[in-house]
Formats: sequence, C-alpha cells, structure tokens
Amino acid sequence: NETQLEEQFNETIAAKDRIEPRDWMPEKYRKTLVRQVAQHAHSEIIGMQPEGNWISRAPSLRRKAILLAKVQDEAGHGLYLYSAAETLGATRDELTEKLIAGKQKYSSIFNYPTLSYTDVGTIGWLVDGAAICNQVPLCRTSFGPYGRAMIRICKEESFHQRQGYELLMTMMRGTEEQRASVQESVNRFWWPSLMMFGPPDDDSPNTEQSMEWGIKTHTNDELRQKFVDMSVPQADALGVTLPDEGLKWNEERGHYDFSTPDWNEFWAVVKGNGPCNDQRVAHRKRAWDDGAWVRDAALAFAENSAADADG
Ligand code: 3HC
Repeated sequence: NETQLEEQFNETIAAKDRIEPRDWMPEKYRKTLVRQVAQHAHSEIIGMQPEGNWISRAPSLRRKAILLAKVQDEAGHGLYLYSAAETLGATRDELTEKLIAGKQKYSSIFNYPTLSYTDVGTIGWLVDGAAICNQVPLCRTSFGPYGRAMIRICKEESFHQRQGYELLMTMMRGTEEQRASVQESVNRFWWPSLMMFGPPDDDSPNTEQSMEWGIKTHTNDELRQKFVDMSVPQADALGVTLPDEGLKWNEERGHYDFSTPDWNEFWAVVKGNGPCNDQRVAHRKRAWDDGAWVRDAALAFAENSAADADG
C-alpha cells in the first residue's frame, strides 16, 4: 500500500540509491524533477545561440571546428535531458511550448550577449566551468535517468572548459589588444557566471526539499564558493583580474571571500528582463515553428511504416 511504498522511497533516498522511473515517488518529487530537468534541458538548447553566433566568424578552421563540435554537444545534452524528463511523463512538445510561453525557465547566463569572439573562450572557461561545478554533484542525484545523463554530459563539459581556457591562454600570449579583449570579456561574464548557481540559500525556495530528496547534494552557495575557489588560481595563471575588489583569500575559512552579486539584476534577468531574453525566446519559437513540418512528416512516415509493418 501507499505507506509501504513511501517507506521504500524514503529508504532508497536515505541509502543514496537511485529512484527509477517505474518506482513509486511522491507527486511533488516528480514535479520538482520535471521542473529542474526541463529547465536544465532548455538551458542547453538556448545556450547554443550565444556561441552559435560566432561559428561563421571563427578566426580559423580549427577554432570553427571546435566551436561547431561544442554547440552540437549542447544540442545532445538537451536531448539526453529531455529524454530524462520524458521518463517522468513530460513530453518534449509540452516542455518546449512551456519554454516559449515563458512558463518554464532556462539559465540566466544565456541572456547576456556575446559581443566578441573572445566571449567563446570566456564562456568555455567560466560558464562551462560553473556548469561543471554544478553538474558533477548531479551525477549522484537521486533520480536515475538524470544522474546517468549527467555522467555523459560532464565528460563533454570538461572538453568545453579546456578548449575555452586554451583559447584565452593563446590570446593572452598574443598582442596587447588581444589581452585587453580577454579582460573586457571576463569583466562582462564573471558576475553572471556566479549567478548561474541560483539565489543565496536563504532565498532559495527549492533547495531545502531538493537536498532532503537527494536531488541536490550541495546548496547553491556551496557550489558557488567551490567555483570561486577554483577560478581564482586559473585567472592568476591566465593573467586576468577578476572584477571584484572584495575577492580575498580567507585563511580561517579556507576559501576566497567575495563581494555579494547584484541579486536585483539576477531576479530581473530570471523574470525576463535581461539584455537578450526576448531575442533568445523569439529565436527558439521561430526554430520550433519552422521545424513543425519536419516533425509532422517524420510522425506521418513513422505511422505509415508501422501500418505497412502490420500489413
Ligand atoms: N537562471 C534562471 N533561473 C534560475 C537560476 C538561473 N541561474 N537559478 C535559479 N533559478 C530559478 C529556479 O529555477 C527557481 O525557479 P522555479 O521554481 O520556477 O524553477 C527559482 O529561481 C529559485 O531558485 P532555487 O534555487 O530555489 O531553484 P533550484 O533549487 O532549482 O536551483 C539551480 C536552481 C541551481 C539552477 C538548479 O535548478 C540546478 O542545479 N539545475 C540544474 C543545472 C542547470 O540548470 N544548469 C544550467 C547551466 S547552463 C548549462 O549547463 C549549459 C552548459 O553546457 C554551458
């Protein structure tokens, strides 16, 4: 009965084992997973736009091939995550309609413009670096299909981060202009990268329950701190300054202290008033509408083939 099923669910969570799609789960567990996995998937797909912007203008064939591979990877990440959401009964059509209608979110970071090719390197280093800090713990999330998707995604994400860092390192060894372009790009992306981890813990309505259910294994602030601690030495090695006067090693804490992000900016972007929100959603809607005939044709073909097979 329901009580025994709930006990079994709680034992599985307590044992840090996986909940699988056919297992009984609290309706709220399912709902919050669809929310997070769908928005994660939307982030991957929308994230193809800012970098895709530079594919036709990459400075060499090598850089173009790398960028093309990375953007294609993001599409694949979206695919794995929509498939994980489908195991919870949420179809890709309905999730895409919700994204386009503004009823579901995607990561705030992609509402900032990529104003120079240098941003491709900075996104690789900082945005994919932040994504790695957030996604490695998600490999052990309690919902099986989500955790398994993460394992594959994290492997590709580390390639994304390394290619970005190598691109910036190459530029830092270049001309004064190239070095200035890296610094300018980092100045624009540092704070939005910190905001990717979500609001402060005491302003995060979902964290407590997600931690209890093992959906999250670390809080927003813990992962943000991990990202800062990881990035400061990398910035030093690169020779760029991170745009925060308050950034200072705190021997007692064993972490870097840093200033408070502008949470008004964060919530404005999350609510749809960032620099590129309208453009990103309009682009996604156009692609969705333009592709309708392909989806209809594929479904018609599948139905006919099935009918033929039945004879
Ligand atoms: N951008 C947009 N919305 C955000 C956000 C952000 N950076 N951070 C938080 N929010 C939203 C939450 O979705 C929630 O709204 P909702 O209830 O309508 O979903 C609200 O703000 C309150 O935030 P919470 O902290 O309570 O929400 P969560 O517990 O879901 O934590 C999260 C937010 C840390 C982003 C968590 O959802 C998460 O870990 N998601 C999976 C990781 C993810 O989505 N990463 C996307 C990064 S981009 C990427 O991976 C592409 C890379 O390849 C470049």
